[in-house]
Amino acid sequence: MVCSEQDIIKAAGWIVNAKHLVAFTGAGISVESGIPPFRGDGGIWSKHDPSILDIDYFCKHPSESWEAIVEIFYHYILDASPNPAHYLLARMESEGMLKAVITQNIDNMHSEAGNREVIEYHGNSKWLRCSHCGERYELSKISLEPLPPRCSSDQEVLKPDFVFFGEGIPPDAASRSVEEISRADLLLIIGTTGEVMPAGMLPSIARSNGARVIEINPSRSLFTDSMTDLFLQGPAGEVSNLMDSYLF
Ligand code: APR
Repeated sequence: MVCSEQDIIKAAGWIVNAKHLVAFTGAGISVESGIPPFRGDGGIWSKHDPSILDIDYFCKHPSESWEAIVEIFYHYILDASPNPAHYLLARMESEGMLKAVITQNIDNMHSEAGNREVIEYHGNSKWLRCSHCGERYELSKISLEPLPPRCSSDQEVLKPDFVFFGEGIPPDAASRSVEEISRADLLLIIGTTGEVMPAGMLPSIARSNGARVIEINPSRSLFTDSMTDLFLQGPAGEVSNLMDSYLF
């Protein structure tokens, strides 16, 4: 089930006329790329215990945590490709309509689709970081056998460069997100429950500054009744395909 063409046309009009459009995305935008969401039907947390992503567990049991991370994340992310929703945001940026994407996702899909202004609020699984000296490595240059991967400088355990439960948001991502979303006169929320903090607080900053909110999601979220002005109910890829012809 997808929203009405009338609502798609209305949303396209708001987007074309926006002065500072920002997109805020969650796991749902990558579902049509074959990456499961965390919550809802088939969600990761319905099959796995979130404590494997607790930073204390990782520090005490790096091998077990890494085995779960490879099964839960890298198993899907390494084979995934951007879908029409990611490509729509990339074209919106290249055509000057979209100023930035703030994403909760760690799958690198927005960058692979071509977006340049991507703020990775929870980090990026395509990078690893030494838990001791902080050196960063591209995942593609590191073998994941045997686990855990180790730093070539000090042989300490490498950690995926995304935010574990119990860790803070990268300060640069946090400050850039607030700066961008504070300037938005239109916010496009795609594929997120809004349940996880502090990310879930970001849209209220735009709202309190008078921004209008468009939301794309097959289901209602915590944002839908509290701040969404135009709810485009449907899968992000399908809605994006419909919207594409009204934007360009
Ligand atoms: N298109 C758009 N949205 C979709 C689609 C789709 N095809 N399929 C599902 N969704 C929606 C669901 O309705 C739900 O609202 O995507 C959302 C997925 O919710 P979550 O899995 O909770 O994802 P998210 O809100 O991004 O989670 C936030 O939780 O575990 C942490 O760090 C993790 O970044 C993640 C954070």
